[in-house]
Amino acid sequence: MSDKECVAKHAAKQVVDGMLVGLGTGSTANYFIEELAYRSREQGLKVITVASSVVSAIKAQQLGLTTVDFERVSYLDLYVDGADEVSPELTLLKGQGADLVREKLLATASEQFIVLIEASKLVARIGQHFAIPIEVMPCAWQLVKKQLEANGGHGDLRQNTHKKGVAISTHGSLIADISFDQHIDAKTLNEILNGISGIVEHGIFYGLATTVLVGINGQVQERQAGNF
Ligand code: 5RP
Repeated sequence: MSDKECVAKHAAKQVVDGMLVGLGTGSTANYFIEELAYRSREQGLKVITVASSVVSAIKAQQLGLTTVDFERVSYLDLYVDGADEVSPELTLLKGQGADLVREKLLATASEQFIVLIEASKLVARIGQHFAIPIEVMPCAWQLVKKQLEANGGHGDLRQNTHKKGVAISTHGSLIADISFDQHIDAKTLNEILNGISGIVEHGIFYGLATTVLVGINGQVQERQAGNF
């Protein structure tokens, strides 16, 4: 079993009857959706789910999970998702897909947010391996770019998978991948990006994870927010 599957199974064991559970997006979140569906089918677990993307909603429905429309949700018990980077303070970088707006909404609204990663995603600082994904209102790109550059950012709009134009997020935003000077810490960067008009959302998830499950050679290591 891969480390992604291990952490997904571990997270699914923490789900109990009656929970409203948020489903993340990506290959690790997929394993969690599969395990949750298995527990519902084979063990009679009774849960309602809300998906962070169309892809995850379709997968959950195909596997027989009960899903509720995103628009109807104002609170959830548990949100489970993967991440691209996790710092020692449990700040996350997410958004290599194009669904980070819904992902952050669910993470923020949830009582608990369990993050599932392999050890290779642990980093000393956010931005170590990836640029920061930033969703921008299309009409505001030039204005936002100027603000990002004034704060030490450099980068450009993401190209679509065919490299024949820019990528568009699920919500119709442009996605910029921006790197910043190493000396800007994630807390400061989060505040800077939150303060720029025209940015719809960005991939730094600061102070949101309650638990990070790290898969290391078939074992699961649990890290709790506040204990580092
Ligand atoms: C999507 C995400 C994913 O959770 C992140 O990219 C990890 O993906 P995977 O589980 O496939 O490694 O943030 O927006």
